[in-house]
Amino acid sequence: MTSHSDIYQIPSPQETSNKSENTSVTSPLLSPRKRLAIKGFNAAQMAIAESYINGLEVPDAMLKGLFDVAMPILFKHFPFLLASYNWVLKETDELTKNGEELMKIQYDRPQQMLNLMLGEGNIIYPKYSTGLWENGAKNLEESQMHMIDGVIERLGIKDGDHILDFGCGWGCVPNYILSKFPNVRFTGINLSHEQCNYMRRKMQDSTSYLSSGRFTLFEGNLNDANFEEKFDKILSIGVFCHVGNLTKAFQKLATFLKPKGRVLIHIITVKTPNHVTSPFTHKYIFPHGRYWNYDAVPNCCGDLKTVQRWYLNGMNYSQTLSAWLANFDKNQAVIQTLDYGVDYAHFRRIWRLYLIWFISNFASGDGEYNGNGQYLMVHA
Ligand SMILES: C[S@@+](CC[C@H](N)C(=O)[O-])C[C@H]1O[C@@H](n2cnc3c(N)ncnc32)[C@H](O)[C@@H]1O
Repeated sequence: MTSHSDIYQIPSPQETSNKSENTSVTSPLLSPRKRLAIKGFNAAQMAIAESYINGLEVPDAMLKGLFDVAMPILFKHFPFLLASYNWVLKETDELTKNGEELMKIQYDRPQQMLNLMLGEGNIIYPKYSTGLWENGAKNLEESQMHMIDGVIERLGIKDGDHILDFGCGWGCVPNYILSKFPNVRFTGINLSHEQCNYMRRKMQDSTSYLSSGRFTLFEGNLNDANFEEKFDKILSIGVFCHVGNLTKAFQKLATFLKPKGRVLIHIITVKTPNHVTSPFTHKYIFPHGRYWNYDAVPNCCGDLKTVQRWYLNGMNYSQTLSAWLANFDKNQAVIQTLDYGVDYAHFRRIWRLYLIWFISNFASGDGEYNGNGQYLMVHA
């Protein structure tokens, strides 16, 4: 793997104004000709994806080969084709859109399937975001520990901090950090009822740090969250692809933060002029999901400002997804018995297409087009 992570300091206003096409929350609007080309591209993409989902036999190697060739070309030469809908280019009115649909299609899927795919250990609970492999992690669990260690360092977590985790998944990050700091307290927000049930069980399990009395769970949407107490630190890992309005989200998070508090936003990002999505993921995987351009967060003028950012090379996520695909395939005996509300063969093809495609996306251009961004933010 040729991956590395680069540290970027925020460009000066002078540098920013020289790169105006790449630096605002709103991506450039597209001409009618480009829109027409996107329409054709979307139709072709869905025709191929749905033929596969409906049973067209294509060996994995051929499918992956297709994405390995096409994605770098699209990222490099035709990124506008990945702006599948007008809404992806600009902030939506709502902070998040269609959360219930997202939970149904993605996060509240049979939990046994998700847990087997993501992996589950004594400290590292299922974690649905990239691991960090570039420092020599030997397996998925270790890669996730390395990733969280990096978050602890960049956010400057200290014992005694009260931390808010927006979109806390199955409580993996809180559990790991609580295990390292005896006086840290965590509050987790999650809209997924099934994931919250998992954490509620752990909160009753004496072997879990979530049962230490230092973890509080808020089941609900960030839109509706309100807290009396302010937090020393706020983190959010892998959630902002579901946030349609950065300005409103940062306004909200700023109201939860102490005056000298810090925020670390970790998101999937693209180094293309426009934000991107795809009709396949919008319909089958992440409704209204989008990948923000790498400059979108620091250029979002609002109540929080970015003071430092890091680009985590996409090869890390590509390797994580490969581990998830291997887990998914390895655990077929159990996974195929669960109820997905649709014919299992159909579901399996949707899910494998998603994983195989994303493995290629993140590996495109040696991981330099599609990776993860981490943004350290403070009150503006
Ligand atoms: C990709 S997962 C990442 C989970 C966790 N941060 C991790 O790294 O494992 C995204 C999480 O955000 C939650 N989520 C998505 N939209 C949300 C919203 N509007 N309000 C609260 N939670 C949300 C999902 O239920 C899920 O737990």
